[in-house]
Amino acid sequence: MASGSVDENTLNAVLWRLIGPVTELSKKQCRLVYSALGHNSDVCLFFIQGEFFAMDARCAHAGGPLCEGDIEEADGVLQVFCPWHDYDFNIRTGKSQTGLQQEVYEVKVEEGGVYVKHASPLSLQPFPPTPKS
Ligand code: FES
Repeated sequence: MASGSVDENTLNAVLWRLIGPVTELSKKQCRLVYSALGHNSDVCLFFIQGEFFAMDARCAHAGGPLCEGDIEEADGVLQVFCPWHDYDFNIRTGKSQTGLQQEVYEVKVEEGGVYVKHASPLSLQPFPPTPKS
């Protein structure tokens, strides 16, 4: 008998995941979106200059919280700066001038909803901890 609350097939597939309504998600420049796979798979959802972007929430350097980083535009390039060691990441590509690569995800807006293409269910609320067997 299944012990988790998340269907295994849904958990492993790369699917469009509905995050929420555009009207709500466009109110903040950046917010944390929780992954059913846990802390290391959480996503930052950015809304900048009328566009949504999604990126892994934990910095590729040492796991810093990119959702708390400063966002700047220089020469037309949108960047987020990790609050821990100030590494830059291009919000569109995930590339850093340090050579590190942050995972980015496709985002679409459809019928008033924001979707992120991701390998796990995503939610604005934390998922309950999985029961230990
Ligand atoms: S943890 Fe992000 S720059 Fe070090």
